Amino acid sequence: MNYSQKISERLWNISDKGELESKREQTFIDDIVQKNHIERTILENIEGINTVFDAGAGSGRFSILLAKKGIKVTHFDISDSMLDKAKELVAKENVLDNITFVKGALEDLSSYKDKQFDLVMSFDSPISYTYPNHESVIKELIRIGKKKIIISVTSRLGSLPYFSNPIQKNQFILDDNCDDTWVKWLINSHDKLVDNFNFNKDLCDEMLERGIINNGEYEIEEYKKGNAPWCITYGFMPDELENILKKFGVKNISLAGPGAFARTVPNEILKKIMLNEKQKRDFLEFSYKFDKNQYVCGLGKDNLLVYGELE
Ligand SMILES: C[S@@+](CC[C@H](N)C(=O)[O-])C[C@H]1O[C@@H](n2cnc3c(N)ncnc32)[C@H](O)[C@@H]1O
Repeated sequence: MNYSQKISERLWNISDKGELESKREQTFIDDIVQKNHIERTILENIEGINTVFDAGAGSGRFSILLAKKGIKVTHFDISDSMLDKAKELVAKENVLDNITFVKGALEDLSSYKDKQFDLVMSFDSPISYTYPNHESVIKELIRIGKKKIIISVTSRLGSLPYFSNPIQKNQFILDDNCDDTWVKWLINSHDKLVDNFNFNKDLCDEMLERGIINNGEYEIEEYKKGNAPWCITYGFMPDELENILKKFGVKNISLAGPGAFARTVPNEILKKIMLNEKQKRDFLEFSYKFDKNQYVCGLGKDNLLVYGELE
């Protein structure tokens, strides 16, 4: 049984998932920074790109951006909830002709031909959710790509601070008074999360050494009970990801850790920056530069982004 795939199917098909995911940039500053970084990377690399495969494309944050540029995009995802939201947003943008929606799992890309798409991309961790098949999924994405690959996966180093900071997401709340249920939960639970916190060195060691906790057994148990746990998530080290891509022939590889700079800034200051248009623009531009530095890329906020060339 492929539990990763089953768990993703159950989690991402929860009916309001598409709606919630499509609102992230209105709610959290780290998501604004990350989206900005990915968008800039894509837009810098679309010359000569006519066809794109977006793997785990979700509610269409990046597939719609490319369809609006006249590029033909295959929007591939495991979840009806995400696909439905993406279809709704695409219809509003009037770019239906440029997008083909496909429901499917990344674990099986056998229906696509070698070099079928100029650019293959996958953002915000779908590949990490295919553990233990993450490496063969990357190999398949490279097989169906012709010119370029841009993917972001879960960063092992970047996700470790969560293990010692249960209130980390609070740092990125944009508006304390908004209606978002997660924001409300974070604010209401703040004191309890701090009071109940104990630093667990063994857990940190396991994540640092293996990139996964207990082989996903906790998630599998929850799934078997009929619950919808978070996906089994594999965290990559930067050199590991680079070596996987090299092994399958990718050239001119560069890495980035979107959000590495922002995570050094406290919430009061981040909010001030985001509320001033010029400062926000400058901050996002500088973060893009800083977060591409090879010495900080591992500490991106959740994601490790990699760009490479296939020819
Ligand atoms: C965090 S969302 C990111 C969505 C989009 N790439 C973005 O950046 O906005 C992860 C997406 O991966 C999809 N996904 C998870 N596991 C998958 C799998 N095995 N095959 C295909 N899609 C998957 C989910 O349905 C969800 O839409």
